Amino acid sequence: MLAIIGGSGLTTLSNLDVSHREVARTPYGEPSGALVFGQICGQPAMFLPRHGYGHSIPPHMVNYRANLWALHHHQATGIISVASVGGIRGDLDPGDIVVPDQIIDYTWGRHSTFFDGVGSPVTHVDFTEPYDADLRQRIIKAGEELGVAIKVGGVYAATQGPRLETAAEVNRLERDGADVVGMTGMPEAVLARELGIPYAAINVVANHAAGRGHSSNGIHFESLEPVLQEAMGRVRSLIERLVGCQDACRPLGMSV
Ligand code: HPA
Repeated sequence: MLAIIGGSGLTTLSNLDVSHREVARTPYGEPSGALVFGQICGQPAMFLPRHGYGHSIPPHMVNYRANLWALHHHQATGIISVASVGGIRGDLDPGDIVVPDQIIDYTWGRHSTFFDGVGSPVTHVDFTEPYDADLRQRIIKAGEELGVAIKVGGVYAATQGPRLETAAEVNRLERDGADVVGMTGMPEAVLARELGIPYAAINVVANHAAGRGHSSNGIHFESLEPVLQEAMGRVRSLIERLVGCQDACRPLGMSV
């Protein structure tokens, strides 16, 4: 079953025909919220809002291990991670959709492995390609079929947050080769890898990164909210399409 982790701007999945919710308990504590199960165009899917239903869990406090463990426990066969980002690369504007292909991790102090329990074998997972190639292709193909523009490829820089970056930090991220910056992509991606769940990301550019473009004098999310909401509508269409919806299958209008 496909799982969708929603971030800022996607706290509900209106095209999910909900069958039930489940509050999961895990060896790592509680996930961000109840898992919501249902169908998208007849295909089973589950949804989890990364920041909780009240959008109250900041990026560094998300219980990533509990979230991933719960999805695994409920037989997630793939995870689409939706997250808003700041655009660093010059061609990225608010509202753009990016499917990144690489990650640089600048986070610290987060529980970033399942392999640290007593007696747990020392395990080094391969993470050369952090995102699943097939799942990425399904997103890209859905975009082509729908005529939804996608910027294919990009390096995602995962910062600690919850504060935004300084302009100098963004310059450094660019020198490092980063194209977008967000606060939640890690350790989510590596925990999925440790569990063997294919994982890919859809990033929505919410703002120019600090010191760039519209953000040269600061970042004001409020003014960008309508852009983010419109873009999330396109993300919902992409998700519908990649699970197999055809044109006749429209959103069911149900909110989780
Ligand atoms: N920086 C980090 N995370 C973000 C940003 C940003 O500019 N925009 C949305 N998430």
